[in-house]
Amino acid sequence: MGGETDARSNPAATDDFEVYLAWSDMTLRVRSDQTLLSVLLEAGVAISPGCLTGGCGECATAYVEGDVIHKDSCLSAVDRERFLCPCVSRAKSRIVVAA
Ligand code: FES
Repeated sequence: MGGETDARSNPAATDDFEVYLAWSDMTLRVRSDQTLLSVLLEAGVAISPGCLTGGCGECATAYVEGDVIHKDSCLSAVDRERFLCPCVSRAKSRIVVAA
């Protein structure tokens, strides 16, 4: 019992994926136990997060390519074509962010 030692206890976590910062020409890895937001902040991307739970949209970040798994509850379907909330959202594969 109690053998759940992986990242599944974090609802924002799924598999690892890569994010390419187009303006910075940097590729970063987002591990299953990290949020995309934490990786972007560590890289120096200027984001001012709010709720950290996908509800406020303060962290919304533009992306230009990628199969995003949207987990927020604030962006509209139209917004989601160009923006993601990195505090909760992830990707199925490499994504390209305008940062
Ligand atoms: S910080 Fe609120 S939606 Fe990401």
